[in-house]
Amino acid sequence: MLLDFEHPEFSGCLRTILLGDSRGSPDKIGIMKPAKAILTLTIFCLVSATEPASANEFADIQPAARLQWWRDAKFGMFLHWGIYAIPGRGEWVQWNEQIPVNEYAKLADQFVPTNFTPAAWAALAKAAGMKYMVLTSRHHDGFALFDDGTNTFTSVKSAAHRDFVAEYVKAVRDAGLRVGLYYSPLDWRFPGYILPDIQRESAEAMRAQYHRQVKELLSNYGKIDLLWFDGEGTNWLSFGGEWKGAKWQKRPDKQNYHGGFSWQSDRVLATLRSLQPDIVINDRIDAPGDFHSREGWGALGDFDNEHPWELCLPIAGAWGYQPNRMPRPLKDYIQLLANVAGRDGNLLLNVGPDRNGKIDEPQAERLRQIGAWLNQYGESIYATRGGPFLPADWGVSTRRDKTIYVHVLKWPGEKLVLPAIPAKVVKATALTGGDAKFDQTTNQMEISLPEAAHAELDTVIALELDAPADSIPLLK
Ligand code: GLC
Repeated sequence: MLLDFEHPEFSGCLRTILLGDSRGSPDKIGIMKPAKAILTLTIFCLVSATEPASANEFADIQPAARLQWWRDAKFGMFLHWGIYAIPGRGEWVQWNEQIPVNEYAKLADQFVPTNFTPAAWAALAKAAGMKYMVLTSRHHDGFALFDDGTNTFTSVKSAAHRDFVAEYVKAVRDAGLRVGLYYSPLDWRFPGYILPDIQRESAEAMRAQYHRQVKELLSNYGKIDLLWFDGEGTNWLSFGGEWKGAKWQKRPDKQNYHGGFSWQSDRVLATLRSLQPDIVINDRIDAPGDFHSREGWGALGDFDNEHPWELCLPIAGAWGYQPNRMPRPLKDYIQLLANVAGRDGNLLLNVGPDRNGKIDEPQAERLRQIGAWLNQYGESIYATRGGPFLPADWGVSTRRDKTIYVHVLKWPGEKLVLPAIPAKVVKATALTGGDAKFDQTTNQMEISLPEAAHAELDTVIALELDAPADSIPLLK
């Protein structure tokens, strides 16, 4: 093994070891004993020092190829679950209520879920017609649902004594779904997150944790299909706050962090691609992602078939568990799914299980209803691409093989007039029922369906063509 003594990570670590520096806050808040921390860090540094410095060395895997399953999957389940489920005021409770770190950490003593059955989560995701799942392996509060060596702020080294990530990965895999993990590089327990310019060593310790934990997640649980980053990037640092001991305070206006700290995510990416060459990642990281994350109902956005994207949003107003959150009417989710697919994106719909791992029944019921719809009309969503008709007042279109699926979400009347297409329509079938007719001329295409057959959720009309549907240019 050749060690690169000029490697910045190596020299930083060497300095740490020589000076006996315990690097920032985690030791102070009881995560690692300094001696162990140094040993762990030494091993980590020796390993990471020999790694390639650039993700570009792994550019041989074509993004399109590794993204194919994800593009076809279209619909996934997001799960926000951690010790924040105990107070039940969302995953930002620590920050929002300025709960001192040591105080908040006590929640780990009570985190002994009695109903954590990831097989039930996976069964529900399947019943909802979802094809992949993404669980918060660690959110901004720093509590890890996986084993992290000597770090005691994990479900393995605290009251539960269970590796929830391991159990989750197995259940999802057994259910035949794709396995995704959410991971937040930032960690509120480190003053260096809030004041990276002043608390430099703490910020670097947070970074070392990030590099170490990503490596653990991608080494210890077999194949991971997707890693969903959140809260990375230097614009998250110093997010409106200031560290005063363990209290949270507002930073004065316009005095935010102005640079000088790097997450060194290019190295994380190199490690990630070498450990899991096919893994798909989003772009909430200081390095190129495979797909872009849009967030919230207001972020549906425009049609985009050039940059892969995914819209994530909570099914009932909250990411982390909040009691009695009722989902919206079924129609909202079906139309959202159509709107997302018709804009060439994916939908990642979130549920926040309670402290015991249970998903509220009204939300579970809504998911099953979505699945029932997909069971009937899924051919118009799965493995489709958006277009060729661009989203308009009447609705959206998707396409696959020689078929265009017209999703009419709002009928302008009995007839729908669409632009002309350079292919012959052989047949029109209303999948949702009724006798669809079409009239194709060189100038336009007219589709009609008796009003009684207009579907409440989404009228899906399949137009069979004499040519591949993806050969048709986008049409307004
Ligand atoms: C936002 C929230 C975070 C949540 C994420 C999911 O970034 O701050 O708590 O995990 O959205 O997309």
